[in-house]
Amino acid sequence: MILVTGGAGFIGANFVLDWLAQSDEAVINLDKLTYAGNRENLASLANDQRHVFVHGDIGDSELTRRLLAQYQPRAIINFAAESHVDRSIHGPEDFIQTNIVGTFHLLEAIRGYWSGLSEESGQRFRFLHVSTDEVYGSLSKEEPAFSETHRYEPNSPYSASKAASDHLVRAYHHTYGLPVLTTNCSNNYGPYHFPEKLIPLMIVNALAGKPLPVYGDGQQIRDWLYVKDHCSAIRRVLDAGSPGETYNVGGWNEKPNLDIVHTVCALLDELSPRADGRPYQQQITYVTDRPGHDRRYAIDARKIERELGWKPAETFATGIRKTVQWYLENQDWVGNVQSGAYREWVEKNYGERQP
Ligand code: NAD
Ligand code: TYD
Repeated sequence: MILVTGGAGFIGANFVLDWLAQSDEAVINLDKLTYAGNRENLASLANDQRHVFVHGDIGDSELTRRLLAQYQPRAIINFAAESHVDRSIHGPEDFIQTNIVGTFHLLEAIRGYWSGLSEESGQRFRFLHVSTDEVYGSLSKEEPAFSETHRYEPNSPYSASKAASDHLVRAYHHTYGLPVLTTNCSNNYGPYHFPEKLIPLMIVNALAGKPLPVYGDGQQIRDWLYVKDHCSAIRRVLDAGSPGETYNVGGWNEKPNLDIVHTVCALLDELSPRADGRPYQQQITYVTDRPGHDRRYAIDARKIERELGWKPAETFATGIRKTVQWYLENQDWVGNVQSGAYREWVEKNYGERQP
């Protein structure tokens, strides 16, 4: 079996659902259920014996040690993290605790477990750390996309905490020989994406008749990858990646934020037109920029294609259409995640941004 951390969040839940749709290998899912963790994402697995959910913190090494001894996983995939840049600006401490200290405690528990395995099981074992392209910092328009050898230059408390965790993972390989793999992926989108991030926030606000808050001039560029393509890349790296290596994962879809918002609006005009017949674009509102806002991320994903034969299956046009359709068909899910805590966050983040 495998152990997944953070499997009730956006990417982790998609990963667990896809894994069990394709394999009978059981999954232990360790998740703290922060505001971003949602058991409803895993509702279809409620009676599935192949999925064991454990409510807990990656920073609790006693718990992790117990789970590892009990279930003896052949691999661990670490999705657990605080993941939202704006929240890291308002309150970095949780990011330090989970992304750095939590990853350290997880690594310590795994090191103890791994060193007690037989030679054969120890060689087969893998720890895959899921990271982000944001560790590489920001690019100008002219610079080439991030390769795996690009220097680390994180700019936000979020990306700095992820960079620190990447370094710890690297050090556990270099020093102790732990068979680790690291993936650095670009921005994901797709089903179960919490509506604090750009794409789901725009869909949800548009349908609610609320402003669509574009930070600054909206010309910041991100590379977008459909979440199920990220999951297939992780499976591929787990199967065939070389221990100690890092793999950049991206969708070859660099787009300015404003283009993304226009595309979402156009799809909603087609699939769920406004009652007054006017275009959703009218709801776009320019608001105060994010402090330290990275201008451009771009991923050079040639290594994973060349060495492991992985390529994304979706184009942005197909992926974003599926995503908008999913949100239209799952408005109960949207309603349920918009709790009091969510409304407080919206007030905190957007209340102080002047249009
Ligand atoms: P998310 O915020 O949607 O989910 C994170 C999950 O981790 C939640 O279920 C939460 O409850 C859980 N969690 C948080 N702290 C924990 C702790 N201390 N112990 C156990 N569980 C804990 O995040 P996501 O978007 O699914 O991202 C997953 C991973 O992928 C993160 O490591 C993130 O840095 C990375 N990543 C995300 C993106 C993206 O676009 N979303 C892109 C590249 C990399
Ligand atoms: P986000 O989804 O938070 O991902 P990240 O900051 O990790 O790339 O934001 C994506 C881009 O969209 C980023 O440039 C910030 C911008 N953005 C807005 O313009 N308005 C918003 O309300 C949000 C949440 C993000």
